[in-house]
Amino acid sequence: MIESKLPAVGTTIFSVMSALAAEHQAVNLSQGFPDFPIDPQLKKYVVEALDQNQVQYAPMPGRLDLRKAIAKKIAEQHHITVDPNQEITITAGATQGIYTVISTLIHAGDEVILFDPAYDCYDPAIVVNKGIPIHLNLEFPSYKINWATVNEAANERTKLIIVNNPHNPTGTVWTEDDLHELENLLKKHPQLLVLSDEVYEHIQFEGQHQSVLRNAFIRQRSFVTYSFGKSLHVTGWKVGYCIAPPQMTVEFRKIHQFLVFCVNNTMQYAIARYLETTDIHQEIHALYSKKRTLFLDNLKDSRFKLMPCEGTYFCLLDYRAISDLSDVEFAKKLTIEFGVAVIPVSVFYKDLSDNKVIRICFAKEDQTLINAAELLCKI
Ligand SMILES: Cc1ncc(COP(=O)(O)O)c(C=O)c1O
Repeated sequence: MIESKLPAVGTTIFSVMSALAAEHQAVNLSQGFPDFPIDPQLKKYVVEALDQNQVQYAPMPGRLDLRKAIAKKIAEQHHITVDPNQEITITAGATQGIYTVISTLIHAGDEVILFDPAYDCYDPAIVVNKGIPIHLNLEFPSYKINWATVNEAANERTKLIIVNNPHNPTGTVWTEDDLHELENLLKKHPQLLVLSDEVYEHIQFEGQHQSVLRNAFIRQRSFVTYSFGKSLHVTGWKVGYCIAPPQMTVEFRKIHQFLVFCVNNTMQYAIARYLETTDIHQEIHALYSKKRTLFLDNLKDSRFKLMPCEGTYFCLLDYRAISDLSDVEFAKKLTIEFGVAVIPVSVFYKDLSDNKVIRICFAKEDQTLINAAELLCKI
């Protein structure tokens, strides 16, 4: 028998809700992936990659043309210089980047601060590496970080703080104040490093995305993970990247090379070509702003309370005025009786906090969103 390293992990709610959605032919707004086609130009570059026989191993840190294209994109977004040779590593999606960062840093007994509700891959990666996850809840209903609580929780054993901006599942984004608070925290704890998960960097509806890369002090202590799955609507390709200072990147690559060695060369070629010719920030921002407006406008007459949706392709709906069922039961009822599959937000909490809120993904075809909103308005 195997002694499980993750005894608490079972079937995820995503599988449960998707199976339920299929069984009841519900509109599936539960899982976070787009259902629309990719840009034909990106497809052409995949074909071009194959025509050019770009099918063997890529360099271990990733193709240089792709790393250079990323550095150029980051310079345009944040007016900073990132060295493609020493600071960017192409990863198999953000998930592998996140796991690699945690595995690079965490020794037995090290504490890691993370915020609930949290994306589900952080905690297991900490546990597998024998770290101790310290879950702090975001404030409800603002879903902001309570920095006083963070300052109380941090100590000399705290090796890493994991932040996610724009935030899945809540759709909140950071202000400059959050960056200042993080900077102050790091100044108090010289051993503390940051993992900033910024996979939704291009989906912030108002104002500038406050990447940790914009703050020179924080940047020197940060690994930042990104995902082309989110930015190019190709979640199945699993290509992302991690940015970190040179010495931290050296250690990151030691783990990376034995975890995957390198990432899908064909897709890296296609993405590099695409970034050379397309302003992806403009495209993604415009696309999701339109979808968000469409969905929220169509929900105006519903009994759900719309929570603030400042970024990502998720929004939260408060159903307190409709039902006092638990959020898991309510999500199942929505799927079975009303034909819309969603995710209950309690599953993103270690302590299963149930604030009577559900998460909806609006990265869907316009007609799907209109149909779903119509069903939700009947409740
Ligand atoms: C916050 C967050 N981080 C990381 C990931 C994983 O990204 P990837 O599919 O590139 O591994 C996701 C995917 O849903 C996410 O929402």
